[in-house]
Amino acid sequence: MSNNNLDNTAVVPTAVDETTTDPSDDQIVDPWTVSSKNGINYDKLIDQFGSTKIEPELIARFERVTGKKAHHFLKRGIFFSHRDLVEILDAYESGKPFYLYTGRGPSSGSLHFGHLVPFIFTKYLQDVFNVPLVIQMTNDEKFLWKDITLEESIQFTINNVKDIIALGFDIEKTFIFSNLDYVGTMYPNIVKIGKCITLNQIKGIFGFDDSNSCGKFAFPPVQAAPALPDSFPHIFSPSDPMTKSIRCLIPCAIDQDPYFRMTRDVAPRIGYLKPSLIHSKFFPALQGHNTKMSASDSNSAIYLSDTPKEVNEKITKHAFSGGRKTKEEHELYGANLEVDVSYEYLTYFLEDDELLKDIGDKYSSGKLLTSQVKNILIDIMIEINKRHQEARARVTDEITKTFMSVRKLNFAMPTIKK
Ligand code: TYM
Ligand code: TRP
Repeated sequence: MSNNNLDNTAVVPTAVDETTTDPSDDQIVDPWTVSSKNGINYDKLIDQFGSTKIEPELIARFERVTGKKAHHFLKRGIFFSHRDLVEILDAYESGKPFYLYTGRGPSSGSLHFGHLVPFIFTKYLQDVFNVPLVIQMTNDEKFLWKDITLEESIQFTINNVKDIIALGFDIEKTFIFSNLDYVGTMYPNIVKIGKCITLNQIKGIFGFDDSNSCGKFAFPPVQAAPALPDSFPHIFSPSDPMTKSIRCLIPCAIDQDPYFRMTRDVAPRIGYLKPSLIHSKFFPALQGHNTKMSASDSNSAIYLSDTPKEVNEKITKHAFSGGRKTKEEHELYGANLEVDVSYEYLTYFLEDDELLKDIGDKYSSGKLLTSQVKNILIDIMIEINKRHQEARARVTDEITKTFMSVRKLNFAMPTIKK
């Protein structure tokens, strides 16, 4: 196999990989495609990708080490997989520093509810650990992959950054950067990473072929570079010998994992620690959980900019129902929660465990109808959008400029216990 220089976890099944030609294996998960016939099988993904399942013991340790309650995304298995999260907890426990890195490819004017998942969780992690955070806006990536102009990708960037800031990140500890502006500073690391990866490996990892632009082939090191601390000399001093041993934790949905399997393979070869990862499942499309909510298909998505009327219509008309065909049948057999999109959305955004359980019990035993569950969900989503839109209106150009300016961040590196 062409990837023989990479460890086995760096080999990613893609549409062109032989693992996907197995007829029983109908799911494709990569940064561009998420599809399956009967819902994504996440255990199988963990197997294929070589990551580790988040078990209850790890969540218990997270709570012990941080002294904080686990987020419901953790308790409900929405963040379900990781790589070396234990190393981060060890570091935090022994007072060693780390930082958070996540990102967004601005392909639409507004974020949708799927994007909220990693960003809400990243904000929670920043609050819990009180650590610096870098957020990469890959407008170069979206220009290369989508039918949009550079100007459009820059406009999307500013709009998306405002959505992200509105989620409440700490202005003193967060650096948000647009690749088109900032990539020069990371260039030394980009070329170091690029030198370690052959074209064959890029094809194996990402499924590119000879008809793809060379811009696409050149992009993966750009998404890898922010996982190396000295890509941010204004945050982590390059002259400090400690800088290279600062760990990085990357929260993202599992579609982004190929980039970071590659990063983890390269980092130790050029003198850095492997970044750690924590992976979320996909917030499903309105049409059902065979694919993710995606900005590429506006029918599949509820945007943070949607009006109450739009939220209401989209859920009422499009949210796939696990309810039965007739009221009589429904009362007899109850809803199938496994495939019901409205119920699944509630597991993400209804925090009250008891209420969620009560709705689940009543819906699956036919005491609640789909329309009633949809109405509960509609109220919650309209309220989230209302609060988000108010918070976003308070994000001025000045605030945005500050988050995006190259500056020192205000955080105390914990003293390393020797
Ligand atoms: P993008 O813009 O496609 O997505 C941004 C983040 O949202 C996650 N995501 C979802 N999570 C749950 N349910 C969904 N339906 C859903 N759709 C998207 C993505 O996994 C991602 O975490 N190339 C990246 C940008 C990027 C990045 C990073 C992401 C650059 N560096 C580091 C994570 C970590 C992109 O286009 O993401
Ligand atoms: N205890 C560390 C030391 O003096 C503190 C330190 C210095 C540090 N520079 C750092 C910690 C950079 C993290 C990163 O050796």
